[in-house]
Amino acid sequence: MESMQKETRVFPPSEAFAADAVAKADKYERAQADRLSYWADEARAALSWDKDFAEVLDWSEAPFAKWFVGGELNAAYNAVDRHVEAGNGERAAIHFEGEPGDSRTFTYAELKDEVSRAANAFESLGVTKGDRVAIYMPMIPETIVTMLACARIGAIHSVVFGGFSSDALRSRVDDAEAKLVVTADGSYRRGKPSPLKPNVDAALSAPGHTVENVVVVKRNGEDVEFTAERPDGAKELWWHDLVDGQSAEHAYVAHDSEHPLFILYTSGTTGKPKGILHTTGGYLTQTAVTHRDTFDLKPETDVYWCTADVGWITGHSYITYGPLVNGSTQVIYEGTPDSPHKGRLWEIVQKYGVTQFYTAPTLIRTCMKWGREIPDEYDLSTLRVLGTVGEAINPEAWMWFREVIGANNGPGKPPKEDPAPIVDTWWQTETGAHMISPLPGVTHTKPGSAQAAVPGIDIGIVDELGEPLGVGEAGLLVVKEPWPSMLRGIYNNSERYKETYWSRFGDVYFAGDGARTDEDGDIWLMGRVDDVMNVSGHRLSTTEIESALVSHEAVAEAAVVGAKDATTGEAVVAFVILRGDAEDATGLEQELRNHVGQEIGPIAKPRNVLVVPELPKTRSGKIMRRLLKDVAEGREAGDASTLADPTVMQQIAEDMRAKH
Ligand code: WTA
Repeated sequence: MESMQKETRVFPPSEAFAADAVAKADKYERAQADRLSYWADEARAALSWDKDFAEVLDWSEAPFAKWFVGGELNAAYNAVDRHVEAGNGERAAIHFEGEPGDSRTFTYAELKDEVSRAANAFESLGVTKGDRVAIYMPMIPETIVTMLACARIGAIHSVVFGGFSSDALRSRVDDAEAKLVVTADGSYRRGKPSPLKPNVDAALSAPGHTVENVVVVKRNGEDVEFTAERPDGAKELWWHDLVDGQSAEHAYVAHDSEHPLFILYTSGTTGKPKGILHTTGGYLTQTAVTHRDTFDLKPETDVYWCTADVGWITGHSYITYGPLVNGSTQVIYEGTPDSPHKGRLWEIVQKYGVTQFYTAPTLIRTCMKWGREIPDEYDLSTLRVLGTVGEAINPEAWMWFREVIGANNGPGKPPKEDPAPIVDTWWQTETGAHMISPLPGVTHTKPGSAQAAVPGIDIGIVDELGEPLGVGEAGLLVVKEPWPSMLRGIYNNSERYKETYWSRFGDVYFAGDGARTDEDGDIWLMGRVDDVMNVSGHRLSTTEIESALVSHEAVAEAAVVGAKDATTGEAVVAFVILRGDAEDATGLEQELRNHVGQEIGPIAKPRNVLVVPELPKTRSGKIMRRLLKDVAEGREAGDASTLADPTVMQQIAEDMRAKH
């Protein structure tokens, strides 16, 4: 039993792994000695530049950074063509696994042809450098092809997650003034066709938008309405009619290092999503370098798999750009982890011999809930690095990941003596790439800690006034120096950019996360500061209490919110899902309260513990604590439209009413 504060286990890398590891400890020293020349060396080694850069960083208009100033390059050339030129055209770039069980493999040579065809096709529609293209797609190879075709032309892509509503799509299309929308008829989710094109129709139905063409990939073959000449003026074309007949040759041009690569919308503290803007040279450098170092990438032999959707930053940096720039072979999967059965993920790992598996803690906890018997049936022995992202991982889930997945040596075989190392990666849409993470083979890993700033990144933990804090003191996470893959702003809103990230302490980047360091200097993330509770003047982290709850044997997953309380300011309210094998819930609520009391201290004891069948999660797996807070404070739950399953909140509200 453990919670984050008491966690003391340390797992050194095995000698064999360390000897063969891609990243060595001297990276930290090189970066420490001269941060800018470290990044310059990495940029030149990781990427092919058409024109070398003259200056590493121009920070004269802070907080608007320019990296690798004067350099020119093409992102698509770096991701595809150069691997073919280097003689690796026959290497698999993408193994696509569709939810219904269909699969396709693209070699680098095939990917190059397809990206070139798509680039020719988009140009034939009048898309040119600087135009914005909205991409509303499922997890299929054409999505990656579209992103790269845009990058090749110099058009700026804006991927809108396929789970977002038509209203969300429209507001993003409008904000970026997109000229082209690329979509699909639909996809598959949980064995059923799931539509996309009808949402595009709804999004564009009101006139006044900037879209000239809608290109539609045929994926699930459902009947979709197709109007060659739409009333709002936009034209519709099938991808296969438009792209398939194009030439597989496309001469790229080099773009400035600071040419915008993409916009990706993310939610902030206010209602209107922010269009986070990333540019080319710096973004590609840090995504490629971290993808290689964090995952110990050996592109000749590895098969890498990141389970994220390309609609999120993880999909941009660690599916489309990092892995392809590095010439890796990767798996992409269209569907849900339990379709058609709960062993689907592990079946895919076994089928392709996956070596690196990068996923979210919530998925690990879901698999824990389903039970280890499921992964135990598969041969996962090829896995050699495991990664997590999205939220702090509780030590219980970390240990399960290590012991059940990382040590798996095949059905019936004794576990590996040296399980695959786990890298817990902290970063954000805004940071573009990993910022805090262990380096496998170098770092002694600790369950629940993201541990150390990536070489070349300068992280600090400060108090409300910006003063540095000491060991064990909880404070605010900041980035003290600009970094290559940092956002270059919020699209069309430089004021909001300055205000959100740079106004708090002046010259450092405010991440919005709480953190503390331990005696070894390792960093422990404590959740968004907006989720930090204040109970009777004591500061408590939702993450920490959740971790304590999940360390109880009966609990599979927990979400904690601070609810207004007349006496204590805020009170802790916990929502828990029980493990499949847990006995009935009688008496459990009191037991869990006491358990938290023991793990953290009586002050952290939840006022209420509510056992629920499911937690409200977005499609990307983030728990929407805001909705739980509404219920905990006796209000009607707010807008639940971004939930993967909107009915979850009704159930929870009913349970809450029945109870209190
Ligand atoms: C949280 C996802 C703890 C954090 C790449 C951050 C994490 C926000 C971790 C960004 C981690 C992400 N440990 N917290 N390893 N990774 N977070 O923009 O609160 O979707 O600020 O980017 O997720 O979420 P975003």
